[in-house]
Amino acid sequence: MTKKAWGGRFEAQPEAWVDAFNASIHFDQTLIDEDIEGSIAHATMLAHQQILTQDECTTIIQGLKAIQKDFHDGNIQFQDALEDIHLNIEHELIQRIGSVGGKLHTGRSRNDQVATDMHLYTKKEVQHIIAALQKFQKTIIDLAKHHVETIMPGYTHQQRAQPISFAHHIMTYFWMLERDKNRFQDALKRIDISPLGAAALSGTTYPIDRFETQRLLGFAAVYENSLDAVSDRDYIVETLHAISLTMVHLSRFAEEIIFWSSEEAQFITLSDTFSTGSSIMPQKKNPDMAELIRGKVGRTTGHLMSLLMTLKGLPLAYNKDMQEDKEGLFDAIHTLKGALHIFEGMLKSMHVNTERLSETTEKDFSNATELADYLVMKDVPFREAHEIVGKIVLWSIQNHTFLLDVPLEVYQQHHNAIDQDVYTYLRPSEAVKRRKSYGSTGQKAVKHQISVAESLI
Ligand code: ARG
Repeated sequence: MTKKAWGGRFEAQPEAWVDAFNASIHFDQTLIDEDIEGSIAHATMLAHQQILTQDECTTIIQGLKAIQKDFHDGNIQFQDALEDIHLNIEHELIQRIGSVGGKLHTGRSRNDQVATDMHLYTKKEVQHIIAALQKFQKTIIDLAKHHVETIMPGYTHQQRAQPISFAHHIMTYFWMLERDKNRFQDALKRIDISPLGAAALSGTTYPIDRFETQRLLGFAAVYENSLDAVSDRDYIVETLHAISLTMVHLSRFAEEIIFWSSEEAQFITLSDTFSTGSSIMPQKKNPDMAELIRGKVGRTTGHLMSLLMTLKGLPLAYNKDMQEDKEGLFDAIHTLKGALHIFEGMLKSMHVNTERLSETTEKDFSNATELADYLVMKDVPFREAHEIVGKIVLWSIQNHTFLLDVPLEVYQQHHNAIDQDVYTYLRPSEAVKRRKSYGSTGQKAVKHQISVAESLI
């Protein structure tokens, strides 16, 4: 049986099945690079502070680098009995370089060690996510630029409301993701802090230099309170929240893609390479990728709830419960990065059926507000205009027609101010063009919006 690093005060050791429950090595080996980076910074600082000799430090660092290389080459098997990445590496180091390896843990605890690893890892991954979000936003802008003039029905209550520009519609997701990006950037302020040197909870009696390890690891600051340093998991909660909300946004976009590609809508055609078939129905082409992105929001939100519940009521300082912070975070990051990557490919390869989109706005009542505005222009108070147009819509429904095809005499029976020019006024493209208010769907306003968006990425 492998000797435990903490075995001194024990007369018996846990059995293998207890070790297995306790162990985190099967998932925290993800942190190997961060763990070794943190250990190298710690050893370097210990040597500068003359707690280790320079020779000891060099031997330790070489040993750590060799372990890292062998791990990536697939030549190291870690063990459950050594619990986690920290004790597995320490054990391996002592095996390789002898008892000097046991000096690495001077002035340190696994509590500040794991916190350091997680800060380094979360920082790196959040930076990757920010870059991926930016790339996705760029794809949205490129698509929007091609479709400023593409008219589509805008909806409220899933009912046709008013015609809008397709570019305007999809740019909404640019802005959602811009807020997401800002949330990640803001979270970075609290991720980018060094807990190293807090040791178990109270700091240490060795003359360590926390600012040197902070500098070596590239952290922007150090925790001011050693208990806080080892107990804080807020930055993981914040990251999970930012991931969850981004996934919620992607799920809303995915839902639109699913509807747009349906037989009923036919607004877009997804590329074959982002669709799948049915094992029984030969005609099927299913938007599985979009459905999976919509569906995976369940697990990311679950991870957020799970960590919040783990932390609730947890006393200071470190508690083993905190080991539960990892799998959810790793999975949430993996899920979001995958979803962004897939979504980007799906957007780039889909075909927007522009003719079908504009046709739909000519066979609905989404220009009814235009008719009311037309009457307002002829000095009819809006509330009266609303009532009159309601009656005209009712007449059209009863006569199986739409506003562009209502005969002029019928219009004039409803209000004598309505003239021949109403037919141009009611065209969906004209309706969109007339929207000139800031941030609106009019082509000029959308072009301005896109230029503001471009200046942000
Ligand atoms: N595997 C542990 C975790 O992930 C590392 C810290 C363990 N510290 C301790 N005192 N048991 O949280």
